[in-house]
Amino acid sequence: MRIDPWSSQQSTDYQRLRDEFGIAAFDYGERLAALARQRGLPPPPPIVRRGIVFGERGFDRVFGAIERGDPWAVLTGLMPSGPMHLGHKLVIDQVRYYQSLGADVFIVVADVEAHVTRGLTLERAREIAMSDYLPNYFALGLKPDRTQIYFQSERAAVKDLAWKLGRRINWSTMEAIYGFSGETNMGHAMAPLVQVGDILHVQLPEYGGPRPVVVPVGVDQDPHIRLTRDLAQATRIFSINHEPGKGVVVALKDNQDKATVERLHAALARRRPELAGKPGHETKALLEAALREALHAIGASDVEKNVPYGTLTWKAASARDVYDLDLALAKFEASALEGFGFVAPASTYHRFMQGLTGGKMSSSKPETHIALNDPPALAEKKLAGAVTGGRATAEEQRRLGADCGKCMAYETYVYHLVPDDDRLAEAFEKGTGGKMLCGECKSIYGKPAIAKLVGDLADGRKAAESALKATVRSE
Ligand code: TRP
Repeated sequence: MRIDPWSSQQSTDYQRLRDEFGIAAFDYGERLAALARQRGLPPPPPIVRRGIVFGERGFDRVFGAIERGDPWAVLTGLMPSGPMHLGHKLVIDQVRYYQSLGADVFIVVADVEAHVTRGLTLERAREIAMSDYLPNYFALGLKPDRTQIYFQSERAAVKDLAWKLGRRINWSTMEAIYGFSGETNMGHAMAPLVQVGDILHVQLPEYGGPRPVVVPVGVDQDPHIRLTRDLAQATRIFSINHEPGKGVVVALKDNQDKATVERLHAALARRRPELAGKPGHETKALLEAALREALHAIGASDVEKNVPYGTLTWKAASARDVYDLDLALAKFEASALEGFGFVAPASTYHRFMQGLTGGKMSSSKPETHIALNDPPALAEKKLAGAVTGGRATAEEQRRLGADCGKCMAYETYVYHLVPDDDRLAEAFEKGTGGKMLCGECKSIYGKPAIAKLVGDLADGRKAAESALKATVRSE
């Protein structure tokens, strides 16, 4: 048997989440590490290597962009409703890693969501963000000049998208996804659409245009991700179907609403005035334009055009070609056809940290978490008090060993405090082997590391003060 210090007590639950919701297992840790070795890129952080990031949707497209050095983006958001703590740090650690790989970085301060779902005023949410979250983002290593942080309440493009995409979803679907009911207040009911706006707006032309985007979140956010991916697809003018053996079929969707069809035809008429007012010619012209500007542009050949069916069939396409084609068509839709051209965003899911006291980690219960703003002495004290997997007596522990899988201090090592894999394995072996008692373990592996972490963050926040105001952009 092999000792696996990274397996978690909760793995079966995450497995079930994956199975039930169709989340794929995140198996890019090794591939990202290999890429880092080959290319001299920064290695993936512990949470990516250790299975803390356990699931994904659509990450393949993002990995392809990383491999090829194509443009891509990462967007995530936090609600500034309580102190920023180690649980929130998880997300920023991933964003920082992606930034080091070349992603465009967006972080949304979800003040509207905090207002409508938690009752905070926008002013209070802003205060918390400016005094705690943002300074910590920079202290954690995000590059101020390469990070776009914005407030949900201030970005018109986000709110406009919420309204526009709202047209494409009805109340029954919202009920089915979120369990909303007649009692749900409308502000709360809009929050998911605002989040869809957050995620998709980074593909608008003024924010970088269509490209792969990854959204690192806790698995509780998955309903928003599914909704976003569905709505991104719904805005597309062409559909793409890969049928093994037959190749790829690109079809002009025939379920466009009237406004879209009119806009399409108008856009087309501006580019091909000779076709204006000749109904029936539009399909042919659209297919020809797509063929030229999207398919041929990425090197497709031997494409069959079927005007009555409104399709283009590319027989020799491979699975990877599908991503390129999707992106090329998205760009074509966004530029030539004045559509949205959103490619479906990817997501990753990380495990939640448990509370230091053994239950849930909660922003409103200081004893359950270590806040990034906690002074070193307090952080050490909280860690010293963390629930462990120790035995009732020292004698028993020497005989049976501790259960590190139940230890909340050990969890902080895995997630944050002991990045070195050998050192982590050493702590695990000594702990489970009964060679060390819990107090000793915390003194060696935990307390100095947490004191250093929060101490460094305090310094980092000071250093970031001047960068702060310059970074926040409203539009
Ligand atoms: N709903 C997220 C939370 O509860 C915050 C959030 C808002 C977000 N917009 C987002 C997360 C976009 C990821 C992407 O914390």
